[in-house]
Amino acid sequence: MIRDERLPASELQRIDDAVRADWPTGADVDFEDAIAYHESLPDRKQFADVLESADRPLLQPRAGVPRLDDQIELLEYLHREGRADLLPTTIDSYTRDNEYGKAQEGLEKARETDEATLNGFPAVNYGVEGCRRLIDAIDAPIEVRHGTPDARLLAAITFAGGFQSFEGGPISYNIPYTNKHGLAETIEKWQFVDRLAGAYTERGVRINREPFGPLTGTLVPPSIAIAVMLIEGKLAATQGVRSLTLGYGQVGNVVQDVAALNALKKLGTEFLPDDVCVTTVFHEWMGGFPPDEARANGVISLGGMTAAIATPDKVITKSPQEFQGVPTKEANAAGLRTTRQVIDMAIEQQIDIDGIGDEQALIERETRCLLDAVFDHGDGDVVQGTLAAFESGALDVPFAPSNSARGNVLPARDDDGRVRIFEWGDLAIDDEIKEIHRARLSMRAATEGRSESFRMVADDVDAISDGKLIGRPGDV
Ligand code: 5AD
Repeated sequence: MIRDERLPASELQRIDDAVRADWPTGADVDFEDAIAYHESLPDRKQFADVLESADRPLLQPRAGVPRLDDQIELLEYLHREGRADLLPTTIDSYTRDNEYGKAQEGLEKARETDEATLNGFPAVNYGVEGCRRLIDAIDAPIEVRHGTPDARLLAAITFAGGFQSFEGGPISYNIPYTNKHGLAETIEKWQFVDRLAGAYTERGVRINREPFGPLTGTLVPPSIAIAVMLIEGKLAATQGVRSLTLGYGQVGNVVQDVAALNALKKLGTEFLPDDVCVTTVFHEWMGGFPPDEARANGVISLGGMTAAIATPDKVITKSPQEFQGVPTKEANAAGLRTTRQVIDMAIEQQIDIDGIGDEQALIERETRCLLDAVFDHGDGDVVQGTLAAFESGALDVPFAPSNSARGNVLPARDDDGRVRIFEWGDLAIDDEIKEIHRARLSMRAATEGRSESFRMVADDVDAISDGKLIGRPGDV
């Protein structure tokens, strides 16, 4: 039975050996050599230090192309023209599915044809040496961003390759992404990833870990996202991670977004061990974007404004071409500059908005209900509690493809656009809080002259791409 306990060094070694045998480049990983390489990197490439010492929100885009020379050029461009503070390397989908053979075929085709045959950078195929060529070439810290349920080999290679930050986690890279992996399985696999990050950390090379906060990216109630961040943070801390960046995805209501970011920081600091440095990352809107680039810039700007008020440590930016999928480098850099402009104009202003304190208190109460349920379900063990709470529906994520979550929770916006819960399933929230949500949703129903129904939920899912926050009847 897996528990929230630190893997012994012998287990770390055993799994490491097995995982590295999965693909030929695994053989080139050498831990001592990797420590020496990280120690040789200049201060400006030390991810955790740069992030934690910043005096303003740092900006980071997403970006990944198959060829190494193109990836170097792309990141140089985003650094120079977009003024990104932190850079990413987004990993391709085959690698995310552990299909390294298919990634290799795609890479070879990309080399022959110059086409982007993969939707990201196949870091496993490049191996330690290829990763280090990227790290050497770029004058900023770089994070691995992916979406891989079993990221063990990817972590082993990219950590040895010089990356010092790694996105994802056992819940956040499983439940919103796939139905192919059970939750117990991904928890076990991420214990290895976190334990490996912990092994580097013990040697003075802090690997920053970033659980993926937006989850399904679709009207996720803040308390659910925050509860998952705290659980993943706790699991990572147990394995020795000491630099954690907890994430949250913009819902679009400024009061709720600022309140949620405040709650995330407060509960993260309270809930995680004192020797963990907790930072936060705000994701610009992860739901559907308007096809019109001018309107998309509006969505991005509201994200920038929210970040200026809440001052998270990092912002993941979107591009005005989000609707089309992977953006051109120009559009990607434009999203960075738009965000920077708004943050720089707003950040020194004293902006007081009514209601943030009350909303934050509500989010904190809800999050504590969910965490209490997890502890109760596991008799104090967070791993067993998480498994049992998802199983019973006490913890749930809306719109998730995974069979490991019940998917019985349905959110809808209230009359001023805050995300509330419309169908609770078995979510472990106390009745008094449920009543608050019910009252807020019935105010909206009254405004719209219709009853609360799934139609409202569906209208809300499409609203922002259609040009509004709330999916009111007759708007489209
Ligand atoms: N380069 C840039 N952005 C990417 N995304 C996914 N893959 C890449 C890539 N290779 C972005 C999508 C969306 C988010 C989920 O990730 O455009 O914004």
